[in-house]
Amino acid sequence: MDDKVKTHYIKVDPWQPAETDIAQCGEIIRAGGLVAFPTETVYGLGANALDREACRRIFQAKGRPQDNPLIVHIADAQDVQMLTRSGSTLAALCIDRFWPGPLTLVLPKAAQIPLEVTAGLDTVAIRMPDHPVALALIKQAGVPIAAPSANLSGRPSPTLAEHVREDLGGRIDAIIDGGACRIGLESTVLDLTEAVPIILRPGGVSREALEAILGKVNLDPGITDAGMKPRSPGVKYQHYAPRGQVILVEGERRLVQVRIETELCKAREQGLKVGILSSEESAACYKQLKPDYLAVLGAKQEPGQVAAKLYHTLRSCDHNNIDLILAETFATSGMGAAVMNRMEKAAGYHRIVEI
Ligand code: TXA
Ligand code: MG
Repeated sequence: MDDKVKTHYIKVDPWQPAETDIAQCGEIIRAGGLVAFPTETVYGLGANALDREACRRIFQAKGRPQDNPLIVHIADAQDVQMLTRSGSTLAALCIDRFWPGPLTLVLPKAAQIPLEVTAGLDTVAIRMPDHPVALALIKQAGVPIAAPSANLSGRPSPTLAEHVREDLGGRIDAIIDGGACRIGLESTVLDLTEAVPIILRPGGVSREALEAILGKVNLDPGITDAGMKPRSPGVKYQHYAPRGQVILVEGERRLVQVRIETELCKAREQGLKVGILSSEESAACYKQLKPDYLAVLGAKQEPGQVAAKLYHTLRSCDHNNIDLILAETFATSGMGAAVMNRMEKAAGYHRIVEI
């Protein structure tokens, strides 16, 4: 966007946001403006989902490819009925168990949803976020809110208002600062239009948790196989990328530590600035190497800890002008599937295996 706009920066109590602040932002949404707001996953960039012009502005502000549809956020599960065409038993089960929460449902869309939101698809992605500020904003706006993550396209999703300001300050009308996002990674996107549900993007609700309620749930093979086209348009883009190159180093702990040390020395000889993303277990070892940047993401078997820190860490690598980021890998069970999916994408699937 060429024209710089004045971005209002509004700090709120995440648990009890002041009504006047939220009312002001609801008014901006109703008037066709863009407001970034916190959710339990990441910050979203919101616009009135029923206003095509406002939704077009989202794409402009983010530099988002036109074929990447938006998620519609609601504050009342009943609204699914007016936004979709047909009822679904599986959807009812998901809503009952996981909403409000980090699960997005893809369902056949109702006519009133503009094609700008769904990027021309006949389905719509809907979620009810589990965050007092997001819910209050949707209620005050009085309309469903279309919101992608509030980052410039291709950058790590924002987990702090500061990240939003960094990417979108001067391009959007307001940023509501409600502190850090609890989960730190995006919602799970689940396609319910086929007989067996399909995970289009792993996220805050694990496949195991979904299968406990729904029975068999498939994973879109396009997520893990770099050679296959993902079913969800957004998933094909290289996301979550810091400016430096990320390399994942996987395998037996001691071998991984040795390999990371070797790669660090090689890179240093070339004059590169090197960052290490470490597990808690290996942190002491890497501290001794004095890398240009060291982040301890969490315990190997605690992907939830890693999720909460990952995007902030990738951005910090950029702030420290890191050229090469050597990262350990983490457990893939539960939230770990989403964590490793984001780390693999950040690495462009560049991985060294030490066995
Ligand atoms: O946690 C989240 O989901 C955050 C917060 C703000 O709610 N939002 C978010 O939005 O991550 P975004 O736009 O960054 O990612 C939306 C994903 C994209 O991969 C997009 O392709 C997919 O959802 N999606 C949206 N509508 C779809 C549809 N009708 N069919 C398939 N995939 C869809
Ligand atoms: Mg995004």
